Amino acid sequence: MKSPIRISVTGATGQICYSLLFRIAAGDMLGKDQPIILQLLDIPNARPLFDGLVMEMQDCAFPLLTELITTDDPLVAFQDADIALLVGARPRGENMERKDLLEANGPIFIEQGKALNAVANKHVKVLVVGNPANTNAYITLNNAPSLNPENFSAMLRLDHNRALSQVAQKLSRPVTSIKKMVVWGNHSNTQYPDLNHAEIDNQSVRSLIADNDWIDNSFVPTVQKRGMAIIEARHGRSSAASAANAIINHMQDWIFGTRKNDWTSMGILSDGSYGIPEGVIYSFPVTCQNGSYKIVQGLNLSDYDRNKMQKSYEELIAEQNAIKHLLV
Ligand code: NAD
Ligand code: LMR
Repeated sequence: MKSPIRISVTGATGQICYSLLFRIAAGDMLGKDQPIILQLLDIPNARPLFDGLVMEMQDCAFPLLTELITTDDPLVAFQDADIALLVGARPRGENMERKDLLEANGPIFIEQGKALNAVANKHVKVLVVGNPANTNAYITLNNAPSLNPENFSAMLRLDHNRALSQVAQKLSRPVTSIKKMVVWGNHSNTQYPDLNHAEIDNQSVRSLIADNDWIDNSFVPTVQKRGMAIIEARHGRSSAASAANAIINHMQDWIFGTRKNDWTSMGILSDGSYGIPEGVIYSFPVTCQNGSYKIVQGLNLSDYDRNKMQKSYEELIAEQNAIKHLLV
């Protein structure tokens, strides 16, 4: 029997977690033979919802769920955490951009960065989901100086999955046959979904989609604006089950490795690759192995690509400047 892994999850009574927690406890993230301890954080007002959540988790009688802790104290939630999924934050509504949430959500990630720094396991893997995810990950990392910056990531996997799915539908091919998709930049509508390197059954996707008009006027804007399309379709509520699924995919690849001859997109601390200066949480194509990621190098980029990537970088710098006063 393996020893249990401690997974901290914030925003535990929110809508993403209502999909996420049951799947994690069923073994969808770490495997059907991996016991887990869930350490769930939400605000004090969430207590009645916590009670309901706990009853439902108990009623599932999950064989892998060794312990279930609920708390409103980050120092309890992150104690000895091996994995921290930072979901808890206010979602945007209609007519808002994700960066409009910075003032409301930034302080959450200051407190949680400090708490992770104080009590989490030194090898903890942190995924920031709460929006604006890249800049919240930057805030968290900056408040956790004793942890390795490579252990922090922001979620672009939902965008990556959206891009895969659009191409699969266009070509009427299974989603699993598509490899080497990239979504560059910020989890915002400046992100750059880039299918120029993608392959489908070892053939270049570009050779099958000669139609630039579909790429520029359908594929790219559909992926960039999918979050708002869902909010509008769901009467003001943002994506939840697909976000939970992306969290599981992101963590699985990070921990167990990406597929052979493939990569994924992760928001990580830039190291200067592809001309994106160091020090922003930016989405790059990465391969993962043995619990670590590596940025895929050597992709050919046109001036058009670089221009799109630069715009997303500039937005991240503007977001960082907007929260400068919140940082230590
Ligand atoms: P929700 O409003 O249903 O739930 C958010 C939960 O967070 C609530 O239970 C709330 O009480 C809790 N919370 C607030 N402050 C907290 C704190 N300080 N500590 C712990 N918990 C706290 O929202 P949701 O739909 O679950 O979405 C959560 C976040 O994820 C939003 O910011 C949303 O925009 C974002 N999101 C990101 C992606 C992505 O791809 N990166 C995708 C979907 C949603
Ligand atoms: C998404 O991409 O679905 C989420 O980030 C929610 C949002 O605000 O768009």
